[in-house]
Amino acid sequence: MGRVEGRVAIVTGGAGGIGSAIGTVLCKEGASVLFVDADADALAGVADELRSAQADARFSTLVADVGEEASAARIVEAARAELGQIDTLVNCAGMRSYEPLAEARTETWNRILEVNLLSYAWLTQAAIGDLRASGRGSVINVSSTHAVNPRAGMGQYDVTKAGIVSMTKTLAFEEAKHGIRVNAVCPGLTFTPFHRKRAEAAGRTQADIDREAQGGCLMGRWADPMEMAYPVLWLASDEASYMTASVIMVDGGRFVL
Ligand SMILES: NC(=O)c1ccc[n+]([C@@H]2O[C@H](COP(=O)([O-])OP(=O)(O)OC[C@H]3O[C@@H](n4cnc5c(N)ncnc54)[C@H](O)[C@@H]3O)[C@@H](O)[C@H]2O)c1
Repeated sequence: MGRVEGRVAIVTGGAGGIGSAIGTVLCKEGASVLFVDADADALAGVADELRSAQADARFSTLVADVGEEASAARIVEAARAELGQIDTLVNCAGMRSYEPLAEARTETWNRILEVNLLSYAWLTQAAIGDLRASGRGSVINVSSTHAVNPRAGMGQYDVTKAGIVSMTKTLAFEEAKHGIRVNAVCPGLTFTPFHRKRAEAAGRTQADIDREAQGGCLMGRWADPMEMAYPVLWLASDEASYMTASVIMVDGGRFVL
């Protein structure tokens, strides 16, 4: 028996570094997973990899922009139709912006709020009936260590991540009586294709990238996306049956620095 055997899960940002790792590990542990992402090519790549790694994986993919409110109903309907009643919702899709607050444009504010924050709320609302009926409903929201430890230059992103922490706690309050656990995972430096592409575009070498993490946390290295996926798996499983309203820092000890 897998650790989440027989459950149905939605993972947004499922084609990204962390989201694909989460979806893959949930499949490996017996869940049926709907991977949702706006990037159709990356999603097809994740599906190919998963099929060749695990022939009996039960999953489906959906191309959708989670930053559009109407997508939430479409995602939930697809999950139900293709996999069954939803037990687990992992909100992981995210975008970044690099405008200092003094120069931040309304257009960017609106988009990042829709993608990083409102999509989590819309999808939760759309799936709430299934999550309540499940009896073991679990929502896991991917935030960031920068939710509680902001920096200069990414204020809009950090605000959305702080909002996710707040939303997680409120939802945990409201849904405890319906048996839904709601938790947030805050990744620290996690090496994903996003970081690789960004470093390459800036002409930085692997040594430069490694140096970035050296002083960034006690462990002195980047996390692998699987190191984010396992805490999410745990929160989705019955092993975490007393966990709700928690905000878990998975940051290699960044916080004490
Ligand atoms: N990598 C890190 O160091 C790190 C640290 C803290 C938090 N996080 C958070 O973890 C999550 C995953 O990050 P990642 O590093 O894997 O990034 P990533 O860019 O590899 O993955 C994000 C995924 O979200 C998808 N996405 C973006 N906008 C979307 C939209 N509107 N609709 C549907 N899909 C959309 C992208 O296509 C991408 O596949 C994000 O929420 C990010 O903020 C990452």
